[in-house]
Amino acid sequence: MKIAVGAETDPSEPRVAATPETVKKMIGLGAEVAVEPGAGVKSGILDADYTAAGATVGKGAASGADIVLTVRRPSPAELNGVKPGALVIAIMDPYGNEAALKALADARVTAFAMELMPRITRAQSMDVLSSQANLAGYRAVIDASAEYGRAFPMMMTAAGTVPAARVFIMGVGVAGLQAIATARRLGAVVTATDVRPATKEQVESLGAKFLAVEDEEFKNAQTAGGYAKEMSKEYQAKQAALVAEHIKKQDVVITTALIPGRPAPRLVSAEMVKSMRPGSVLVDLAVERGGNVEGVQAGKVTEVGGVKIVGYTNVPGRLAASASGLYAKNLLTFLEILIDKKEKKLTVNWDDEIVRATALTRDGLVVHPNFMPKSA
Ligand code: NAI
Repeated sequence: MKIAVGAETDPSEPRVAATPETVKKMIGLGAEVAVEPGAGVKSGILDADYTAAGATVGKGAASGADIVLTVRRPSPAELNGVKPGALVIAIMDPYGNEAALKALADARVTAFAMELMPRITRAQSMDVLSSQANLAGYRAVIDASAEYGRAFPMMMTAAGTVPAARVFIMGVGVAGLQAIATARRLGAVVTATDVRPATKEQVESLGAKFLAVEDEEFKNAQTAGGYAKEMSKEYQAKQAALVAEHIKKQDVVITTALIPGRPAPRLVSAEMVKSMRPGSVLVDLAVERGGNVEGVQAGKVTEVGGVKIVGYTNVPGRLAASASGLYAKNLLTFLEILIDKKEKKLTVNWDDEIVRATALTRDGLVVHPNFMPKSA
């Protein structure tokens, strides 16, 4: 059984799908591991580190592999080197990318999308959305503090008092919770909002203040899967009015609001940005899905009337070594359910809910119910 670790071809992707630690574990599962040269460099892992862990490093690592691990979905050109029937496991970005899914099916690989991992206890250690969002939430606060021309904590000095920064977190999922915790650790006064009622207690338990329109719709705004629902126009208007008043007094706003499979909700209007005082900073973690902040530009820090809007993409990649470490562990625990340790071979159990939830293509077809071609 051969497992290949790809080198990412997108120059904006510094993460890698395996670490020396996970290579050793994969060898322990009975695999031989082949790594593409330079795969880990941007995450601080040298080819020699992989070799020392027992892998071989060489061009064309994916050739003849039974399993191919990457961070991003491999391009059709990369799939050329992969044998039919091989498992290809990555963050596949399947929504709205029908042509790319067809290319995976046409290459006759069995593709798994790590971001479709069900949110059940058994799959928690395989949950790439959580592992990466946690780091993004942390990094958003660090990026905000770097752009902010003042200190975060209150400081009483002989030369006078520096007030604590007021930080407002919008969207309290995994990223938002870590942003709250990080901003609190830096000494900021933190408030947060979300549409899911369960978040109120979580926000308060982290020492921040919760702010939201708590009407009947709010009480039912969580799906069985734990995600947010899209809110009605009426609710959005009420929420916007509340937020508009609050945002005027904030120094830093970090937005993380997402609804699975939908564009990001627009939470901060240009008017609201204008109402903030010069020197304030907004960080929009939802920029890759259209953004929560009006005027945010992907990959850029822009300035509107002295207010900075930070729109970095691939924020987990800004902590590449940490992000790779966690992602590689997510992949390893997923592999452990696909490999029979005793027999040292692949045994995919197609009745396992984790397998069914993440499988995108198989035997030349798109098999995931959410992404099957309409005409089929
Ligand atoms: P997400 O990335 O899909 O969304 C981020 C946050 O934005 C969510 O809290 C959502 O409620 C919020 N949001 C959406 N629309 C909004 C609006 N209009 N205004 C304000 N906020 C808005 O969420 P994430 O981080 O993936 O977490 C979703 C849930 O899944 C959480 O409850 C989390 O604790 C849970 N979870 C469960 C796991 C498990 O059981 N294995 C693992 C990880 C997360």
